[in-house]
Amino acid sequence: MKINVIIMLFITATAIAQTEKATISVRGNCGMCKARIEKAAIKTQGVKYAVWQAETEQLILLFNPKKTSLNQVAKNIVAVGHEANGIVATDEAYGALPMCCQYVRGKPLVIGHRGAMGHAPENTLPSIRAALKLGVDAIEIDVFRIASGELVVFHDKTLGKLTNGSGLIEAKTLDELSKLSVLGSAKIPTLKEVLTEISGAVSVNVELKGANTAEGTISLFNDFVSRGIFTAEQLYVSSFYWDELRDFRKATNRYDIAILTDKNPLDAVDIAYELNAIAINPNFRQLNADIVHTLQAYGLKVIPYTVNSPAEIAALTAMGVNGIITDYPERVE
Ligand code: G3P
Ligand code: MG
Repeated sequence: MKINVIIMLFITATAIAQTEKATISVRGNCGMCKARIEKAAIKTQGVKYAVWQAETEQLILLFNPKKTSLNQVAKNIVAVGHEANGIVATDEAYGALPMCCQYVRGKPLVIGHRGAMGHAPENTLPSIRAALKLGVDAIEIDVFRIASGELVVFHDKTLGKLTNGSGLIEAKTLDELSKLSVLGSAKIPTLKEVLTEISGAVSVNVELKGANTAEGTISLFNDFVSRGIFTAEQLYVSSFYWDELRDFRKATNRYDIAILTDKNPLDAVDIAYELNAIAINPNFRQLNADIVHTLQAYGLKVIPYTVNSPAEIAALTAMGVNGIITDYPERVE
């Protein structure tokens, strides 16, 4: 350890030229064991070293701006309890975390709901653009497979509430849908159009809302990944219809799955294991700190929906959720 520290301190002039220095405040208590944060570290690529100063409760770090951004670094702060000042290398840091202290993070990931539906008609290109402008980490959208075979981005089974059309969306052709407007001002986009609009800028959570959506989603994912527009890691699916997720997993192991739940999220641990899912995306009203930590102890991320009020966002952040799905991405600080 000491030798490593010395080596890290003698960073060459070249290395320094490729790095930026930043100081980030880290204070508070572990969300689970309540221990005061006594040592902080970073879990992200591109950090040369991080020095934790207990006196000032600050983390001073050198990072490579070509590999990571300060924003990304700030989101990946983890706290290591029970030690004072020290230098922590990135890999070592996370491995050294006591399990309970893994719950203290700088900030949960921000996932724009149906784009950013607090700012533009849900699940439309203007909503996607609003989410991107607000700096989200990921965008959630809903998809149905329609009569002409395409996947379109829309939330409701029927068209009446949001458009000037009527009837079941799944019974329509793309030509028919193209004549409609959403809330009087936007079009129903295809999944392909939405993925093209995002073009790898952020991750995409495709919620499989309708039947027979798994196969088409995989084809589109494969297409965008093979063209180098997204990485496979940026694309994932979720659904309340676990059988659709089963179909998805049977067809591919290439993309992540999150399990959507409306009732007790602990009931979804079995299916999460069966499908090798990475996360449970629960209704936030079903969560408390114990449930969040139990799910995380099972190795699952917890990404609740749809959290809009600042007080609820703060409460879930304090519980240590991994991400927040919200209509108002700017409210997650
Ligand atoms: O994916 C999270 C959330 O979108 C699930 O509920 O009804 O808004 O699609 P809903
Ligand atoms: Mg949804």
